[in-house]
Amino acid sequence: MSFSVPARLEAEIDEIITHYPVKRSASLMLLHALQEQFGWLSKEAIEWTARKLELRPINIYELVTFYPMFRQEPVGRYVIKVCRTLSCALGGSRALHRHFCEKLGLDSRVHGLQTTPDGQFSLEFVECLASCGTAPVMMCNEGFYEGVSQAQADEILARCK
Ligand code: FES
Repeated sequence: MSFSVPARLEAEIDEIITHYPVKRSASLMLLHALQEQFGWLSKEAIEWTARKLELRPINIYELVTFYPMFRQEPVGRYVIKVCRTLSCALGGSRALHRHFCEKLGLDSRVHGLQTTPDGQFSLEFVECLASCGTAPVMMCNEGFYEGVSQAQADEILARCK
């Protein structure tokens, strides 16, 4: 697969690297920048990052596989994350996840990332989103939603279209 970083982004990345005493310390910032650009981190993006920072690819893979916010597969235009940790599980997050699955034609038995065939929506269960008192909690891209009812879920989907 051909992989290239737009010149503007590479210039930004080169500038970011200068903020750190050692190149390796810029790893997370570079990964965030590349994921923002491409939506996910391909093998080629990881290897590019390693070369840019004069590291081995394993040094970058270990970050990408450790932090759940990094994605190693393409995602939809809208990424919906439903919290499944205890408070949200008790507060109805399974029913909320099932509701999204029914609306989007996805499999409610799948807790990991799944994407609609048209590439518009990705849905996944995630661990605690740090607002346990307002369960069930979810995110849609950068939007954060608390105490989400099925009617509110429908409104969120409608706003995405
Ligand atoms: S358990 Fe869902 S936000 Fe903490």
